[in-house]
Amino acid sequence: MAPSDVITHDVIVVGAGLAGTWAAMSAMEAGVRDVGVLSKLHPLRSHSGAAQGGIAAALNNVRPVAGTGPRGPLEQIPPDAEPIDSWELHMFDTIKGSDWLGDQDAIEIMVKDAIDIVYAYEHMGCVFSRTPDGRIAQRRFGGHSTPRANYAADWTGHVLLHTIHEQALKHGVKFYSEWFALDLIVEDRVCKGVVAMNIQTGAIIPMRAKAVMFGTGGYGRAWKITSNATANTGDGVAIAYNAGIPLMDMEFVQFHPTGLYRHGILMSEACRGEGGYLLNKAGERFMERYAPDKMELAPRDLVSRSEQREIDEGRGVEEDGQGIYLDLRHLGRDKIMERLPQVRDIALKFVGVDIIDGLCPIQPTAHYSMGGIPANADGQVIADAEGTPVIGLYAAGECACISVHGANRLGTNSLLDASVFGRRAGYAIAEFVKGGAALQPVEGDPAAPAQRRIAHLMSDPPGGKGESWAALARALKETMTVNAGIFRDEARLKTALADIRALQERFERARVMDRSRRFNTDVLGAIETENLLIFSEVIAVSALERTESRGAHARTDYPKRDDENWLRHTLAHKTPDGPALSYKGVTIDWEKYPPQERKY
Ligand code: FUM
Repeated sequence: MAPSDVITHDVIVVGAGLAGTWAAMSAMEAGVRDVGVLSKLHPLRSHSGAAQGGIAAALNNVRPVAGTGPRGPLEQIPPDAEPIDSWELHMFDTIKGSDWLGDQDAIEIMVKDAIDIVYAYEHMGCVFSRTPDGRIAQRRFGGHSTPRANYAADWTGHVLLHTIHEQALKHGVKFYSEWFALDLIVEDRVCKGVVAMNIQTGAIIPMRAKAVMFGTGGYGRAWKITSNATANTGDGVAIAYNAGIPLMDMEFVQFHPTGLYRHGILMSEACRGEGGYLLNKAGERFMERYAPDKMELAPRDLVSRSEQREIDEGRGVEEDGQGIYLDLRHLGRDKIMERLPQVRDIALKFVGVDIIDGLCPIQPTAHYSMGGIPANADGQVIADAEGTPVIGLYAAGECACISVHGANRLGTNSLLDASVFGRRAGYAIAEFVKGGAALQPVEGDPAAPAQRRIAHLMSDPPGGKGESWAALARALKETMTVNAGIFRDEARLKTALADIRALQERFERARVMDRSRRFNTDVLGAIETENLLIFSEVIAVSALERTESRGAHARTDYPKRDDENWLRHTLAHKTPDGPALSYKGVTIDWEKYPPQERKY
């Protein structure tokens, strides 16, 4: 391969959401001179921008008005008053939310860094909403015992992303907009670069680097109803898995309780944080039955299961009974226009409901992947249960499993996780590069496997009739929704697995109709579908094996949490016979935060 066909950087980051952009910016800030960021979209279309309700940090800016109870109005805390929040309380809430599967050393780092990172955003000029005396405004969120969601109306992810993107540009990060990663170049546990497609030209380019960082986001697109953007097809996790990196805790997938009915679009948890109700067909606030203390502000796994129970038992709304009503009418026009303008706009445009005076139909929606590429708290990817590092490879944000969320993430901890561990990864990468890391020699032509895959997709199908990748993707979403959704059991998971494997086989015959090079979305769709099929198999196998219920993994045939056998992380390695599972201990401070029954 001619050297001009290869792009070289000190550091290549894949993904331009919060994790990737923080990593790129921080590495430059810490003295790395040459960082390139690939994004399959325009960087500012990255899915971090879709998170609405807030970023968690114990800033102690607001408190409930005395005597108004746990759901009463909030007021700013006078400067001389006792604080009501602390990183310790944030830590406990996160551990409890994780159903004790979160690694407590990593959680401690995240909640301590939370305070600093939110002020870092503020100092960069982020347009947070404000308390009357000018501090960052905070609201309640599910599973958090105090109001600690720091917000900008219902655009929090959007404003954070714009803020950090600006900083990355200021620091000289080079962005490759509309470049699609295809393969990782990893040999003997050393990462040497990536192979990517320039979507605009169709060229497949090896990109060599001393360090590679993945901030490629989640994979909600494996389900029919999802809050995830169409781009969220788990490309990063599939690429890592193909390169021999294990995937961790893939069975834990979060369903957000308020996706817009039939569309799945996020209707922020801020709706409930601001006081919204959930109602069934009879107009009951049914959360009274499931979480009498926290009600609508119980954690997401619990609220989504409660909604699904109401639906399954015939108390759902809309003509097919698959919806629940979100009632915000009592908040009043002014509050809605000030704090939930985007939510109002989405409901108006997509279901024709004005939340100021109408009930908004919602349903649980696949939202967040707790599992992913295993990494330590510096974002260094690990290759096994012993923590053996993959040299030069880093991951953070939703594609990674640093395991701060365990079996269930609390709302507002994802913008936090992506920011804190993106920044830490950037600093670790800078140390690695400045410490003398070199470009590694690469054997052969690393672009060849991707070239072959694409040539295969463009070739004539056997017998003249190929499979449609779009039809395969639809079939996958159907089986994942029915058989690997909110409630699972052995029979359903086995069906899911058999379906996924049959679809993988059919994918061998998938072909594209568009054989041109430039902006070939047919090829992109096919590759994304292959990625969906790859990690969905890992989800089904990991979920089938875990014979307990914990956090978002709810097995109706094993309804209890089983700490004796399952207080451990799943690792799945790719083998020719499918995922091979092994297990890794959970880091627990047995003195301070031993496992307890999880009640709300
Ligand atoms: O509901 C929301 O605003 C989403 C936030 C999150 O997933 O953290």
